[in-house]
Amino acid sequence: MPVTVAVGTHWGDEGKAKVVDFLTEKNDIVVRFQGGANAGHTVIAGGETWIFHQIPAGILHPGKVCVVGNGVVLDPLAFLEELDHVRGRGVEVEGRLWISDRAHLVMPYHKQLEGIQEAARGTGAIGTTRRGIGPTYYDKVSREHGLRAGDLLDPTGFRTRLRKIVADKNEVFTRVYGAEPVNADAVAEEYLGYAEQMRPFIADTAAILHKAQNAGKGILCEGAQGTLLDIDHGTYPFVTSSNTSAGGACTGTGIGPTAISEVIGIVKAYTSRVGNGPFPTEFECEMGNRMRDLWNEYGATTRRPRRCGWLDGVILEYSARINGLTGLAVTALDRLDVLSELRICREYVLDGKRLHTVPARTEDFDRVKAVYDTLPGWQTETTSARCFEELPENARRYIRRIEEIAGVPVRYVGIGPERDQMIVLRPQTV
Ligand code: IMO
Ligand code: MG
Repeated sequence: MPVTVAVGTHWGDEGKAKVVDFLTEKNDIVVRFQGGANAGHTVIAGGETWIFHQIPAGILHPGKVCVVGNGVVLDPLAFLEELDHVRGRGVEVEGRLWISDRAHLVMPYHKQLEGIQEAARGTGAIGTTRRGIGPTYYDKVSREHGLRAGDLLDPTGFRTRLRKIVADKNEVFTRVYGAEPVNADAVAEEYLGYAEQMRPFIADTAAILHKAQNAGKGILCEGAQGTLLDIDHGTYPFVTSSNTSAGGACTGTGIGPTAISEVIGIVKAYTSRVGNGPFPTEFECEMGNRMRDLWNEYGATTRRPRRCGWLDGVILEYSARINGLTGLAVTALDRLDVLSELRICREYVLDGKRLHTVPARTEDFDRVKAVYDTLPGWQTETTSARCFEELPENARRYIRRIEEIAGVPVRYVGIGPERDQMIVLRPQTV
């Protein structure tokens, strides 16, 4: 009963969906375990581009089962739009897409509240995707104001609970923020309309996964965001509101930790970040702008320009530990083809002291100086290489350096967006 977890090693947008799409072939079920429509997972297949926000990227493989786990916060409207979109493009979803009845629902007031709160934070804004993620997890943890996918199946109960919740929310909207109150009945009507369309997909997904485990099926857990956006292990408070690291795959699905056999860390050959917060290896402004345009580093969810920088090896090492990585998938290696020289951050210096870990406090992380190793570039196109030996020597050296820093073997190397642009060094072992 192999279970593989795929997680981002940095701040998201590492090319997770390309790797998940690739690994789906060898698995039977793909399950999202945290986050929500803040994710933008891009798969390019046969020249066609697909961007997934809530549906697992595995849906493109006919016959594979896809699960939205209990750890996800689900936006029903965004989900139904995404569903329509994939169906419209010929993807069959009946009988192979399931939503956990325990997944919490993103409500309109979550998105409204997030907009108000981000504006109120001024220069201290997190730079969220404004998909209502933070306020939804907040209500989940409060144990008072959360609504779950399973609640949609009982319209009377849903209406009653929503009225009470909205009464409390309206106190905050009107008294704290001086904003317009929310109309509970209008929200109830809207959501109960979605409920009818969602009913066939809502299930006890942990039970589905356990049955699959017993039958020896392969399960792939698809992470969203990245380790440095983890609510516990990331650059708090400039993080998302879920456990994006491998531990989240257990709590967000109901799969026990002893069942996990592989944890693949997805690391982009350079680093990017969208949203605010520290970023020690960020390029200087001019180079940052140039590389962003060359690499088309604009958010798949919000189209915001992404901040770009050199590969941060300290974070990679940290991620290897936090996630218990067993393998790495390096993505977008080809994007470095143009550079004559490359840098990898090997350590930080803070107040004259050398650091090999991520400091807990933003105030400290903001002040660290990145210390780099410089490696020669290869200035040769790598996009048509199909095995490791076909990569230029300096590209192979770069990959070996990544392995050394992480202390984890590189299994896969992405050298372009298409499905066949993936070099397999060591395949999945179980
Ligand atoms: P994928 O899965 C990159 C960032 C936001 C912000 C912070 C909090 O495509 O890699 P949130 O809306 O989650 O409360 O925002 O997290 N963020 C991401 N950055 N990739 C993502 O997802 C992200 N999802 C959230 O920009 O800094
Ligand atoms: Mg993305």
